[in-house]
Amino acid sequence: MRFPKIRMRRLRKKKNIRKLVRSINVSKTDLLYPVFVKEGLKKKSEIKGLPNQYQYPLERLDELINKCEEAGLPAVLVFGIPESKDKIGSEAFNEEGIVQKALRYLNNNSDLGIFTDVCLCQYTSHGHCGVLDDTGLNNDKTLEILGKVAVSHANAGADFVSPSGMIDGQVKSIREKLDDAGYSGVGIMSYSAKYESNFYGPFRRAAESFPMQTGKEPTISGRSTYQMDYRARNQALREVALDVQEGADIVMVKPALPYLDVIRRVRETFDIPISAYQVSGEYSMIKKFEGESEEDILMETLFSIKRSGCDFIITYAALEVADLLMETS
Ligand code: PBG
Repeated sequence: MRFPKIRMRRLRKKKNIRKLVRSINVSKTDLLYPVFVKEGLKKKSEIKGLPNQYQYPLERLDELINKCEEAGLPAVLVFGIPESKDKIGSEAFNEEGIVQKALRYLNNNSDLGIFTDVCLCQYTSHGHCGVLDDTGLNNDKTLEILGKVAVSHANAGADFVSPSGMIDGQVKSIREKLDDAGYSGVGIMSYSAKYESNFYGPFRRAAESFPMQTGKEPTISGRSTYQMDYRARNQALREVALDVQEGADIVMVKPALPYLDVIRRVRETFDIPISAYQVSGEYSMIKKFEGESEEDILMETLFSIKRSGCDFIITYAALEVADLLMETS
C-alpha cells in the first residue's frame, strides 16, 4: 500500500497561506500598560534598567494619556510612589495620596481602562508587602489595610483593583470591603500565581520598593514567605482556585515567559480571563539583547505568551508594540 507523502511544508508555502493558518494573534488591545506616578517629582524621569519607561509627575499625566490613546491601548495599570513611607504603608490609603490623585486625573481626562496595583511594598518603610510583627508578615492585619487601599482606589475611579501581595485571603477581603462600600461594580484582577522571582529587579528600582532583610528570627529574606517558590509545581492551581472562589474577575500569572507551563495549566483548568505579566526583568533582558532583532524577539515572546493560553499581557513594551503593529499590519 502506498503511504501518502506527508508534507507539512504545504502549510508554509507562501505568506498568505501562512497567515491563513496562523491561529495566534497579538493585537494592541491585548496589552495592558504599567505606569508609574511619583509624588513630588518635578519632571518625568527615565527608569534605570527599563529603557523608555518613566516615573511621571502628576503634572505630566496628560502626556502619558496622549501617548496611550494615540497608540490605541485599551488600559493602564497604575503604580504610585509616595514621598513618605511608614511601617504600615498609610500613604497607600490616603484619599489625597499620589495614586488616588492620579486615578482621579485619569478618570476625568481619558477613557482608558484603569487598573491599580494594590500592595503595600512601595508604601512601607521596610519595603515588604504587608505589616510586620515578631512572626514575620502579619497576614490578617495586612488584609485590613489592603481593604482600605482598594476602597480608596475605587473612590478615586479605578475600574479594577489588582492585589499583588500574595497575602492569603486578599481577594475575599477586598471583595467584601468593596461591596460594603457600594463598589460592587469595581472588579478584581488578582496576581494569583505570583512567584518569588529574580526578574523583578528593575521594577523595584522604578517603584522604590526593595524589601529589607531582617536579621532576627524569623528571618524575612526577600519575599519568600509570601510569594511562591518557583521550584514548586504544586501550588499555582490551588492559588488560582482560591482566588476564583473568593471572587476574582481576572487571574494573573507572573512572570510570564519562564512560567508558560503555569499559564497553560491555568487555561486548561479555569474558564476565566487570564492575564500574564511580562515583568521588568523580562523586558530589560530583551532590551539588552545584542543584535538588530530586538523587535522580532519581543514579538516572539509576546506570541509565545499568548499561545500558552492567556487572554492579555501586561507589558512595558505596550507602546512600542502598538507602533510595530501599526507598521506591519
Ligand atoms: C508589588 C509588585 C511587584 C511587581 C508588580 N507589583 C514587585 C514585587 O513583588 O517585588 C513586579 C513587576 C515587575 O517586575 O515588572 N508587589
